[in-house]
Amino acid sequence: MTGTLLSGHRSATLPSASGLPLAAYRTDHVHRCAIRACQREHVTDIDALVAVLEADPDARLRFRTAVAVAHSALFRDAEHLRWIDRNVLPGITAGARRLRVWSAGCTAGEEAYTLAMMLEWHGVLARSEVVGTDILEETLAEAETGVCAGTRIAPQLRTRVSFDQRDLTREPPPATDFDMVLCRRLLPYLTPQARAHAEAALAQALTPGGVVVLGRDETLTSGLEELGLREVQPGAYRKIA
Ligand SMILES: C[S@@+](CC[C@H](N)C(=O)[O-])C[C@H]1O[C@@H](n2cnc3c(N)ncnc32)[C@H](O)[C@@H]1O
Repeated sequence: MTGTLLSGHRSATLPSASGLPLAAYRTDHVHRCAIRACQREHVTDIDALVAVLEADPDARLRFRTAVAVAHSALFRDAEHLRWIDRNVLPGITAGARRLRVWSAGCTAGEEAYTLAMMLEWHGVLARSEVVGTDILEETLAEAETGVCAGTRIAPQLRTRVSFDQRDLTREPPPATDFDMVLCRRLLPYLTPQARAHAEAALAQALTPGGVVVLGRDETLTSGLEELGLREVQPGAYRKIA
């Protein structure tokens, strides 16, 4: 199946039918998603799956969601967030006149809104901006509604958060002056090459002294010196001033 997975026999291929850069994701992950999608959509080969994805927008979204692993929740991994709250935010918020935070891979806004709430607890929300980006325009459209996980986000939080569609494996960061970047549970699904681009974009997004935080038990694989970063805690890296 490997040969046909990314190319296919038809003029349309799985990458074009899904609208995702499948080559950026680990082959074993894409294979698993393709096999499950064939079972789910009751087809027996990739060409038939491509035809279904082209004809059925719901099936296409199911496949895109599976490959991108677009699942999240407000305050997901509360223990890790508590760690960020105690160990990262105090250093970033102390004395800051203006704060910029990026949630890279924010799904339907869950992580971006969570960050806004955490900034409110630190009393800095009114002078903060949170940017949430994701590859899936479908989940970002959901985020834009301001209703997240069935909860209406309060206007004072909603106005501090903006969203932007962006492929972390190919595009530059949304800005280069972020004080904190959170990128949890996205990098492990990428190929080494796509991951290297993504890690460079995360580092590039930081203002000097800014911190990038990965998911629990995740570490950067690129050279820290090359990225201009220094590890300050496991999974948290500061941009060298
Ligand atoms: C497992 S979810 C993690 C969501 C959130 N960070 C959390 O920890 O709850 C991974 C997110 O990354 C997004 N994503 C996957 N590939 C991406 C890419 N190439 N560029 C940007 N976002 C991507 C997915 O759509 C999804 O929302």
